[in-house]
Amino acid sequence: MSVIEKIVPLVIVLIVAVSCKNRERAPMSNVEVASSGYYSEPFRPQFHFSPEEKWMNDPNGMVFHKGIYHLFYQYHPDDIKWGPMHWGHATSTDLIHWRHRPIALYPDNLGYIFSGSAVLDVNNSSGLGTVENPPLVAIFTYHDMAGQRAGKENYETQGIAYSLDNGESWTKYAGNPVIENRGMKDFRDPKVFWHTGSNSWILTLVAGDHAQFYRSKNLKEWTKVGEFGHDRGAHGGVWECPDLFPMQVEGVDEEKFVLFISINPGAPNGGSGTQYFVGDFDGNTFSTNQKEPQWIDWGTDNYAGVTYSNAPNDERIFIGWMSNWAYAQDTPTEKWRSAMTLPRKLTLHKKFGRYELASYPVEGLERIVERAEKKSIRLREGAKETMAFENFNQAETRFVTTSRNFTLRFKNDLDEALVLNMDGTRKQFLLDRAVSGKTRFKEAFTARTQRMPLAHLPEGEVEVRVLMDRSSVEVFINGGLYVMTAQLFPNAAYNQLEVENNSQEVLEFKELEIAGIRGIWSR
Ligand code: FRU
Repeated sequence: MSVIEKIVPLVIVLIVAVSCKNRERAPMSNVEVASSGYYSEPFRPQFHFSPEEKWMNDPNGMVFHKGIYHLFYQYHPDDIKWGPMHWGHATSTDLIHWRHRPIALYPDNLGYIFSGSAVLDVNNSSGLGTVENPPLVAIFTYHDMAGQRAGKENYETQGIAYSLDNGESWTKYAGNPVIENRGMKDFRDPKVFWHTGSNSWILTLVAGDHAQFYRSKNLKEWTKVGEFGHDRGAHGGVWECPDLFPMQVEGVDEEKFVLFISINPGAPNGGSGTQYFVGDFDGNTFSTNQKEPQWIDWGTDNYAGVTYSNAPNDERIFIGWMSNWAYAQDTPTEKWRSAMTLPRKLTLHKKFGRYELASYPVEGLERIVERAEKKSIRLREGAKETMAFENFNQAETRFVTTSRNFTLRFKNDLDEALVLNMDGTRKQFLLDRAVSGKTRFKEAFTARTQRMPLAHLPEGEVEVRVLMDRSSVEVFINGGLYVMTAQLFPNAAYNQLEVENNSQEVLEFKELEIAGIRGIWSR
């Protein structure tokens, strides 16, 4: 340790006492929250999307049109457990504030409406609208429950529906299904984009252990053109919810294709997760040199995520379902179940010949963050420092540091804690929710400490951002190159943050900011 470090007062802590006088934030004690109004039930996310009531899973049909971001989602309007799937619908102009809309698609005699996508058919190639009023076309999976129960294998087919009033109302296409099933049990989740290279629509779907590509000129007649993945990537479970799209590599003149494949089970920390491949698409099939599976998010609770079609400025905006099939149906909420991740902007980076995808909250989030004063803290080796804040569960905690060995413990008065640990020695980041609050509803919820390898984290300063919203935490390191998302169910708000220096050197957190985040829900 240097002399200067020795004479620096052992702990210079300049934090906290973040005044919350001007701010009205509901305390999170479950009892108190339950008695106040709209979107204030226990565990109810305040700045994430969740349905007003009942069960939700995957985001579907994400498309931007006429200034509006549409978010459809797998929805069961009659229960807080999975059941006959509909497409619920919400809209936003800024990706932060959402407006609930009527259910867009109901099951019919071809089956439940499973996951899928939506595009603006700008030239009316489908003939379902006009050139003056081009249709929004939704492409989804029909899941024929009766067929499945009867032991058939071809119970999943693909159908389309269209809207001529910017997503307000939808008409199913009379010629459904548009893609028949030749006997594959898992054959679903079509994601469509316009491929300029082949001047056609390309549809990616998953078929058990691989992806298939289809081509069309009119969104109604599809020809299979390729397959990918039998021998690539992670295969611990069934492949679901693909997404294929081109991306510019940051800082260089290079375009690559990114392919998302959600997988359940088989994620690195158990249950559901989303892997990605970076490679090329030639109009028929996808290929990649990538050897190892790569994951969008290392936490347990980011699944079935896909990106917006037609987003402004060619941006790639991602939303995932913030849950995991290992316990999704058992989480301790009563009125609704589960939420979406924050919308995240994707960027593609190339380092030492390796491609890495970053995902980072969209800039619009700034509108609701109550930016606070930035401070610094220094801690001598082995030291701890505790900071108080009224409600970390509706706040962002961020800092930059060169330290690689520290622990963050977000704690409440009930001795519950979420523990985050940067372990530079083993080059990993750990998220431990074993004593974070309610955990006993399902063993799989706390089966292990969640681990994110940091093998490729460069030397020097790292930026750490932790966003908590009642029942979730999202951790972004280095602009979203390393991400962990997890649900938690604390019985009272975390109101202390203990920082521990686990290294042999003085730890310094610079630009440390703890900022409250305003809720987005009001009637
Ligand atoms: C993914 C998934 C999809 C399917 C949908 C059914 O979570 O299993 O493959 O379309 O959910 O709700």
